[in-house]
Amino acid sequence: MKGSLLYEGKAKKVYHVEGQDQQLILSYKNDATAFNGKKKAEFEGKGRLNNLITSKIFQYLHAQGISSHFIKALNDTEQQVYKTEIIPLEVVIRNIATGSITKRLGIEEKTVFLQPIIELFYKDDSLDDPLINDEHAKLLANVTEYDLDDLKIEALKINSLLKKVFLEAGLTLVDFKLEFGRLPDGSIVLADEISPDTCRLWDTKTGEKMDKDVFRNDIGDLIEVYQTILNRLEEKVCVK
Ligand code: C5P
Repeated sequence: MKGSLLYEGKAKKVYHVEGQDQQLILSYKNDATAFNGKKKAEFEGKGRLNNLITSKIFQYLHAQGISSHFIKALNDTEQQVYKTEIIPLEVVIRNIATGSITKRLGIEEKTVFLQPIIELFYKDDSLDDPLINDEHAKLLANVTEYDLDDLKIEALKINSLLKKVFLEAGLTLVDFKLEFGRLPDGSIVLADEISPDTCRLWDTKTGEKMDKDVFRNDIGDLIEVYQTILNRLEEKVCVK
């Protein structure tokens, strides 16, 4: 049973679970934000789509041996998860150059990386989530060298699995962001969400952008695009 509100973020509300202090309920909102909250809008149905897409992906990853905070979808917009202490790092994995890396390093748009590139950003809105190195991460995010190695290995495994599953759904996984959290026993698991809000997905045949860039760049109907992603995953991804 849903308890009191613990926290409200840009995309989700987090609730306690009554009589259960090791779990939480995440409620996905219809709000869309970009450019670190500088651009905002609301899309009826977006919360439902991101909840269902994330649930499907976390179930798939679980079946492939990836531990996460995900327990189950409760309804269209809510899911039950294990409570973790979120590590304040955004772990970004890039397969193809676009977005901030092209501007920051002058890499040509659509350059395909021979090996995925991992970047760490420090989750801090007041600093605009800066790119940081491992030494900064150890200092700011209270992680060890071993934790960072672990996070990177897990992120690369997740990248391989997601690339495959999205390809089956006719989508190229260009880049994405992961967050991890610590369980009470100290172990680190995948947390937050994996959705078109946190991934760049290009239609394999047409190259069309099928993710939050639709909102960032005003280039289409966000709900139509997210619904297509869900339909394709439901059609192609069988979770045993
Ligand atoms: O903006 P940038 O090119 O660095 O984004 C890389 C990837 O990380 C994109 O898929 C983007 O959607 C995701 N991201 C995110 N949340 C952020 C920053 C980036 O989901 N705060």
